Amino acid sequence: MDNFVIHGGKKLGGEVRISGSKNAALPILAAALLTRERCVIRNVPDLRDIKSTFDLLNHLGKKCFFEAGAFTVTEPGRLKHDAPYELVRRMRASVLAAGPLLARLKKVRVSMPGGCSIGVRPIDIHIEAFKKLGAESCYEKGDIVLTGAKLKPGRLRFRFPSVGATENLMMCAALLEGRTTLENCAREPEIEDLAAALRSMGVEVEGAGGPRIVIRGQSKLRALRHTVIPDRIETGTYMLAAAAAGGRVKLTAADPKPLGALIKALERSGTKVTCGRDSITVESAGGRPRPVNVSTAPHPGFPTDLQAPWMSYMARCRGNASVQENIFENRFMHAAELLRMGASVYISGNKAYVHGVEELNGAPIMASDIRAGAALLVAAGAAKGRSVIRRTYHVDRGYERVEEKLRALGMKIERVKG
Ligand code: UD1
Repeated sequence: MDNFVIHGGKKLGGEVRISGSKNAALPILAAALLTRERCVIRNVPDLRDIKSTFDLLNHLGKKCFFEAGAFTVTEPGRLKHDAPYELVRRMRASVLAAGPLLARLKKVRVSMPGGCSIGVRPIDIHIEAFKKLGAESCYEKGDIVLTGAKLKPGRLRFRFPSVGATENLMMCAALLEGRTTLENCAREPEIEDLAAALRSMGVEVEGAGGPRIVIRGQSKLRALRHTVIPDRIETGTYMLAAAAAGGRVKLTAADPKPLGALIKALERSGTKVTCGRDSITVESAGGRPRPVNVSTAPHPGFPTDLQAPWMSYMARCRGNASVQENIFENRFMHAAELLRMGASVYISGNKAYVHGVEELNGAPIMASDIRAGAALLVAAGAAKGRSVIRRTYHVDRGYERVEEKLRALGMKIERVKG
C-alpha cells in the first residue's frame, strides 16, 4: 500500500488545472444505462471510483473504453440487472445504477451498500421514491430487489434533499414517458450537470439546481454526449491547501460559482480570493488565519465534503473556531489525526471546537475516507516537519494525480510504497 511522505511548512505557488468532477461523472456514467446508443463523455477524471464505475458498467453488459480523449460506453449485448456486493462495497455510488436499470429493464437487484466510516448512509429515500412511482421492493440476502411493471411518471417529495436519491429518480423518470415532478430535491451543481447530460439524450428537464425538478421522460433516449463540470471539491481542497500553507495559487479550468460559501469563509479568515470566469486565485501570507465558524448544509451551504480540510486550516487559527457537521453523523475521524499533529480539537456531538495552535507538527497519520485524506494533505502541507499519510487509496478515489499537482505547486510530497 502507498504512503504519502510530506515535508511541510513551505509556501505554495503556481498554477494547477482542476479535473472533471467525480461526483458529477458518476451519475452521468450511470445514465449511459438508459440507452443502447454509444455514449461519449468528456472531462471524466482518472480515479479509482471511475474505474469502479467502469467495472460495474462492464459487469452490467456495457463496454467502456477511453477513445480520442473521451470516455465511451457502448452496449454490445443484453444488459444485466444486478449490481453485486463485490462492486457496491467498493463504491456506494454503484446504487446509482438502480434508477436507470429499473426504468429500462423493469427489474433491478442492487446489493445494499452498508455503512461507511462517515455514517450509516441508508438508501431509504431512494427506495421510498421509486415506490411512489409504482415500483415494488423486497429484500433478498442483503440485496434490494425493485420491480417496475407498474412504474409510471408521477409527483413525489423527498423527505430530505439527498443528492444520490435526486439523481437516481431523475434518471428513472427520464425513461418514463410523461411528466414527473420531484420536490425538495438536492440543489448541488452535480444535479444540474446530470440534467444537462439527460437533455443531450432528448429528455426535457426543468428546474435542476432548484428544489423542484420537472422531467418529461421519453420511451427511448438518444446517445449521451456531455462534458463534465470542474470538480468543486477538488478546487476547494487546493484553495485550502494554499490558504493553510501560504503562498499564491491559481486554479484553472475551475468554476468559482458553486464555491460561494467557501470563498466567503476564506475571505473572513483573512485569505484573499480573486475569481475569474474559469479560474480562482488564492493568496495567503501563510500566517495564522482569523477564526471563522462553519456549519455544513446542503448546497448552497458550506459543503460537508470540505468540512475536514477546513478544520485543518482552522487548526492554526488565532482563537477558537467551531465546525458543525449537519449532513453525516460520524464525519470527524480526521480530528484524531490532527491531534497527533499538535492540533487542539474537542468534539461534542456534531460540533468540533478548534482552539488554534501556533504550529502543526509533522506526524505519522492515517486517512479514513476521501475527504479526511484531503484534510491530512492540507494539514501536512502547513505543518513543520515530516508527515507520513497512510491509506492513500482513499485519496486516490477522489483526487486525480494529487501528488503531481501538489508537487507542481511546490509541496515536497512523495508517494512511497508502504
Ligand atoms: C453525495 C456525494 C458526497 C457528499 C454528499 C452530501 C456523490 C457520489 N457523493 O453523497 O460526496 O458528501 O452527497 O453532499 O455524489 N440519507 C438517508 N437516506 C437516503 C439517502 C441519504 O438517510 O436514502 C442521508 C445520508 O445518510 C446522509 C444525508 O442523507 O446523512 C446526505 O446523503 P446524500 O445527499 O444522499 O449523499 P450521497 O448522495 O450519498
